[in-house]
Amino acid sequence: MSKTILITGGAGFIGSHVVRLFVNKYPDYKIVNLDKLTYAGNLENLRDIENKDNYIFEKGDIVDEGYVNDLFAKYNFDGVIHLAAESHVDRSITNPMEFIMTNVVGTVNLLNVAKDAWKGNEDGKLFYHVSTDEVYGSLGDTGLFLETTSYDPQSPYSSSKASSDHFVRAYGNTYGIPFVISNCSNNYGPSQFPEKLLPLFINNIRNGKALPVYGDGKFTRDWLYVVDHAIAIDKIYHEGRNGETYNIGGFNEWTNIDLIKLLCKQMDIALGNEARTAEKLITYVKDRPGHDKRYAIDANKLKNELGWEPSLQFEEGLMKTIAWYLANEKWMDSINSGDYQKYYEQQYS
Ligand code: NAD
Ligand code: DAU
Repeated sequence: MSKTILITGGAGFIGSHVVRLFVNKYPDYKIVNLDKLTYAGNLENLRDIENKDNYIFEKGDIVDEGYVNDLFAKYNFDGVIHLAAESHVDRSITNPMEFIMTNVVGTVNLLNVAKDAWKGNEDGKLFYHVSTDEVYGSLGDTGLFLETTSYDPQSPYSSSKASSDHFVRAYGNTYGIPFVISNCSNNYGPSQFPEKLLPLFINNIRNGKALPVYGDGKFTRDWLYVVDHAIAIDKIYHEGRNGETYNIGGFNEWTNIDLIKLLCKQMDIALGNEARTAEKLITYVKDRPGHDKRYAIDANKLKNELGWEPSLQFEEGLMKTIAWYLANEKWMDSINSGDYQKYYEQQYS
């Protein structure tokens, strides 16, 4: 059946993989990508599908009420997959207001417009809110985040995402907007902005620059290949139950330092360098304020209910990721200049 779906943040890292999957898999759908093109949005990420008949790009801000209203009137959306956000924890520590504006106000704005546009006609509509495991806070050495784990966000970023999750549930409960929420662990893969750990370190290794490891490097994250996240979003969008939350994770925990050592090893091989060349670049730097110790996701609800599982083993995913960045040095070089340099100096000097 044909549908018109609004994907917000589709020019960003995860959003571009979701847009690509939906455009290619559902030729009968119309996919409208709404993105403000902040520093993190990059239309280069979508060159391969930008001329497809079922794809439309709209540049705009989810915070702008009049603009979002007009967009809903223009397209009469059946569904929204909402990924647009400020997404980097370190930036949320230096500039929390931008996170509150986009992640909280922007999400509530979309909800308001969807509520009015769908009023009395909610059947078949869906507001899918893409969120993060960081809303659950930080774990000790054991335990996993479940969908029922209480929210306990610790950074301005995770607090803004937690707040937006609460608003989505509140609008479902109060106004009957059909919704689903998913909370995913750390994504990695092609076209991630090099402010996040893996692309930043790949970029620094290829340029012979120091690898800034925060604190003692013993912080733990669960890692998922971005295409597997996009596949999970597709499944949940089409088969998830109204009003439910689904955790998405890779069943794949690593301490930062072990992950970085594996990356260094694979980078030496990919660049044809002597073993342990990249490892010499590891430099311990001052810790991130309020740094969450450990995230770990129990994604068994999604596995048992909808049959989703990660398709890639981590070593294989990491090799594919490295190969992509090395084959797309132009993409990285175009980011490396200007504002990125300023950000880098402020963050790491
Ligand atoms: P990203 O920073 O790469 O991309 C965000 C996109 O949103 C960019 O294209 C940007 O231009 C756009 N955007 C920002 N503000 C906007 C606004 N006001 N109006 C319209 N567009 C705007 O982010 P990402 O890593 O791809 O994350 C996407 C979503 O997934 C976010 O909601 C994030 O919280 C969530 N998430 C990310 C991860 C991860 O590991 N990266 C894990 C779990 C959940
Ligand atoms: O868990 C999901 C979240 O994962 C998403 O919601 C966020 O959008 C995404 O940015 C990511 O958050 P993290 O803070 O975990 O990702 P980041 O890549 O910034 O850092 C991963 C780990 O590496 C974290 O423990 C901090 C550490 N780190 C990061 C950077 C950028 C370093 O040691 N040095 C660095 O330079």
